[in-house]
Amino acid sequence: MLENVQNLRDQIESISLTNKEEAEQFRLQFLSKKGAIQDLFKEFRNVPAEQKKAFGAALNELKQLAEGKHKEALEGFESTAATGVNGDITRPGTPAELGAIHPINAIKDEIVDIFKRIGFNVSVGPEVEDDWHNFTALNFPEEHPARDMQDTFFVQRNPDWALRTHTSSVQVRAMESNTPPIRTISPGRVFRNEAISARSHCIFHQIEGLYIDKDVSFADLKQVLMYFAEEFFGNAKIRMRPSYFPFTEPSAEVDVWWGLETEVDHKITKGTGWLEVMGCGMVDPNVLKASGIDPEVYSGYAFGMGIERIAMNRYQIPDIRLFTENDKRFLEQFKTGV
Ligand code: DAH
Repeated sequence: MLENVQNLRDQIESISLTNKEEAEQFRLQFLSKKGAIQDLFKEFRNVPAEQKKAFGAALNELKQLAEGKHKEALEGFESTAATGVNGDITRPGTPAELGAIHPINAIKDEIVDIFKRIGFNVSVGPEVEDDWHNFTALNFPEEHPARDMQDTFFVQRNPDWALRTHTSSVQVRAMESNTPPIRTISPGRVFRNEAISARSHCIFHQIEGLYIDKDVSFADLKQVLMYFAEEFFGNAKIRMRPSYFPFTEPSAEVDVWWGLETEVDHKITKGTGWLEVMGCGMVDPNVLKASGIDPEVYSGYAFGMGIERIAMNRYQIPDIRLFTENDKRFLEQFKTGV
């Protein structure tokens, strides 16, 4: 009889339980009412009296062994499910993949930092904007063709609302809620109803700058842009071409000297050596008035630039759509040192 117990013990010890199904099979085969251990208990009364004690002890021990094995296996499976480390916390973990800063954010942060160093703060405004802040206060007369310069997504429920077409709307908000001197920079997303192609997108990013104080002149504007060009592009050589924006007078577009030595230089600057980077000008007195600032006392400059354009030049990115496709092969290239 003791031999039977020993045989069963050998059998139980040789089994390894690797999943829940096997554990259940094990329970049915050995631990259930119809299982092998119970069968042996039923033999108890046939065991000669002098062997009963040893048999009983061996059988109880076997039962404990089988129950322990079953319980341990189940606990192991549970902790594997909870920790994913197969119950062995001394094993090396699964390494967490580090992300990269998106190139649009990296460029935005760099530009914001450059202006923060000379006393600009950061202001933000809503992406769904009313006609006043996006157009009217910025001296776009109603029904004026200047509004067509920026194809607009209107909000159907309320024709007074639109997705802002530029971050110049934040200028107006900054002037409405602050008294000069105002030195602020406003990064953000803007929207235009334009076909998507390699060079243009209906959603992109801009950074707006605004400085309002007494006696601000065009010379101050040029100086701050030279500082920016030197810090960001490493070259303070800029040129300003006359331009038109409803909210500035006079208005200019700014080019930074890029160079014209390599084939890439030719491609990037369209053979001119100059890189067009932003629009700017002296804030129109009408805009100051509309925003509650007396143009007889104060003057100021404003500028605005597109972040995608600058990022495409910095990183030699040929297609604007890459910024929003979230292709890991693209994004991983912007990982900084680990
Ligand atoms: N808002 C203009 C645009 O989206 C950019 C711009 C031009 C902003 C001149 C300015 C400025 O502040 O002075 O095209």
